[in-house]
Amino acid sequence: MRIIQITDTHLSPSKAHFNANWSPLAQWVADQKPDLVVHTGDLSIDGADIEDDLAFSAGLLNELPVKVLSLPGNHDIGHMPGSPQPVSATRIDRWRAVIGPDRWIHDMDGWRLVGLNSLILGNDSLEEEEQFDWLEDALAEAETRRIAIFAHKPLFVDAADEGETGYWSVRPAPRRKLLDLIEEYDVALHASGHLHRAWQGMHNNTSLVWAPASSFIVGDMERDMPGERILGAAIHTLADRAETEIVEINSLSRFVLDDVIEEVYPRARIAQAPETAA
Ligand SMILES: [Fe+2]
Repeated sequence: MRIIQITDTHLSPSKAHFNANWSPLAQWVADQKPDLVVHTGDLSIDGADIEDDLAFSAGLLNELPVKVLSLPGNHDIGHMPGSPQPVSATRIDRWRAVIGPDRWIHDMDGWRLVGLNSLILGNDSLEEEEQFDWLEDALAEAETRRIAIFAHKPLFVDAADEGETGYWSVRPAPRRKLLDLIEEYDVALHASGHLHRAWQGMHNNTSLVWAPASSFIVGDMERDMPGERILGAAIHTLADRAETEIVEINSLSRFVLDDVIEEVYPRARIAQAPETAA
């Protein structure tokens, strides 16, 4: 089974800065003839506040000639408590109404694919608790299937035992819980987006993949992090084990967020940190 992971498309009918990358991405995906597409979030520029951004993105995804499973990103449903757009029931409900479930299970060819809503991790909400219960059941009931987890946010940036990275990865307490579950149930793959950087590594027996965005890279406005600043997608081949090829798609225009952040995400600039933008 071949799954194409696309991520961080950042589409919008009103802020069209990155829309030009949709057609070449869609063409590339169609040419690949995958069995499934997974979008790991930030479909939209500002679906957290603007329903049209989500509806527009959904319309484009529906044009793909293959089944697509999507997960929310911080720009689709909001993010951490205290941020300018905290995740909320209203925002999650909007996602569910326009796009679909914010977490899902998809069984296929001897694999169980689990999609997580990573924006509620660490916000100490009832939704977070419910999702952990649901996840544990999903893993425990996988039977003989191998397991791959998809989410917007990576488990960590530099090291599995690092402290709070704020915006960029899962907070330490929920990260520990996830890593324990991943080990207990021998999860083969954890694949994420969010960082707009491409990277692959291993954590014990689990393959970790950061798929590259298709919209823009982040330039010097953000601290250096692991991974390559490229635009593209990831191809996951799931058979006896999970193998991933990260592909730089040369037909995508290499937009740089730094050049347009005042227009696209002015609040991020004003709020405090440029790192609240990707
Ligand atoms: Fe993003």
